[in-house]
Amino acid sequence: MRPRDLRAVFDRRRTPGMFARFAAQHPDVVEIRMPGQKLWLVSNAAWAREVMVDNGRSVTKGVGMRLLRIALGEGILTTDDAALHKRNRRLINPAFSMSALKTYAEIMVAAAERAEGRWRAGRVVEITDEMQRIALDIVGRTLLGDETDQDAKAVTDALEVILKRFGLGFLPNPEKLIDTRFPPAVKMRRSIEVMKATVERVVTEHTDRPDARQDAVGALIAATEDGETLSAQQVRDETLTLLLAGFETTANALAWTWWHLDQNPASAERLRAELRDVLGDQAPTFDDIARLPYTTAVVAETMRLRPPAWIMEREVREPIEFGGYRAEAGTTILMSPWVIHRDARYWGADVEQYRPDRWINADGEFDPTATGAPRGAYFPFGAGSRICIGENFAWNEAILVLATLARRWAPVTEPHQEIGIWAAVTLRPHPDIKMRLQPAVSTAASPVAG
Ligand code: HEM
Repeated sequence: MRPRDLRAVFDRRRTPGMFARFAAQHPDVVEIRMPGQKLWLVSNAAWAREVMVDNGRSVTKGVGMRLLRIALGEGILTTDDAALHKRNRRLINPAFSMSALKTYAEIMVAAAERAEGRWRAGRVVEITDEMQRIALDIVGRTLLGDETDQDAKAVTDALEVILKRFGLGFLPNPEKLIDTRFPPAVKMRRSIEVMKATVERVVTEHTDRPDARQDAVGALIAATEDGETLSAQQVRDETLTLLLAGFETTANALAWTWWHLDQNPASAERLRAELRDVLGDQAPTFDDIARLPYTTAVVAETMRLRPPAWIMEREVREPIEFGGYRAEAGTTILMSPWVIHRDARYWGADVEQYRPDRWINADGEFDPTATGAPRGAYFPFGAGSRICIGENFAWNEAILVLATLARRWAPVTEPHQEIGIWAAVTLRPHPDIKMRLQPAVSTAASPVAG
């Protein structure tokens, strides 16, 4: 590794670019030399899938999960215990059933409408911040239930502190470090305590009031399989996991979507035409999602070029083989949607262009295979047994929030800004993008002026 690459490892603005450079030189697999570590970057889409799907039993989550495990406990995101993962995932699934998603859809639209109530034409907002407020509102109400604004805020403030200090997990012995008087560790510890105590209280309140069980915590408490249920601590840990996994990712996808739309007026116009035709003056509903192929394509294309989960990591537990290579136990394998989603072998020469219509087939439908890209070339939600449990939730949220707001608003990027990325746990704009809230022209209804 050259000195400039080593710097890029620790510079969260440059790490994805560094991986892209490695992949340009070694398109399928490359060993990245790091002291004391055997690190492979696999950028062949089929092989990455083999690692995550076919060899799923021989690999575990890597070191990146260590700090999250301290913060969240043993939840489905962090655990390396395959049996526990399988069981808890089955028990959590009802929180993402079709009927639950239908209920959540109403909450998602209501949250976007509440945001719209705050928006004033001409006001400049930081778009990621704004989308985080909406995502927070949604995740708070869908997971914890209504009337928990304060609780949701306390938890997500704490989560932010934890995510900012995620780098601690890569230092030697984070489990010990967290108990020291090292200031970032102290902040982290306090945040973990606040987060756990708040969720614990919400869980207890739910348990005491069976009528308050329309939300995901309620579903987790009620979940039973063969007489087995989740313990109170597991409900707490899994709730924290869903909160953490569920808000920043979707908020980033939405923030990048607004920016892409502003950069690509023809796409924005086609999006608004679809919203006008399908929704008219009405707010979107769960059933409308399937009738909004171009809106879906806009979200898909954003997550192709700006995948919120930009890197996935696996540690090899027992030797695995793929593409004629053998990865020994202890090898860390990285697979980056950022890299594979912009590989011209899979996406064609216009790979860097934002083109939602690549997702629309000849019948005008959204079709993830219409792109001609092979299986595994698009994996914003991962693959295999650890694939995102909130995938449908996230699609619905992004589509419904976008559909609600883009009918009447077309945020415009303020001039003279550096548009950069920050690739920590998730990939977000950095610095945040300032956008002016502008009414969309030629729409049916017009927003509040002010
Ligand atoms: C655009 C939004 C989202 C993206 C891009 C995303 C992406 C991902 C990815 C890539 C993984 C797998 C990580 C790996 O294999 O190492 C994952 C796992 C997970 N996600 Fe999401 N996610 C999103 C939204 C959500 C939401 C809304 C929730 C919950 C409400 C959620 C809950 C989870 C959980 C619990 C896991 C762990 C699953 C397991 O290991 O069984 N995610 N997510």
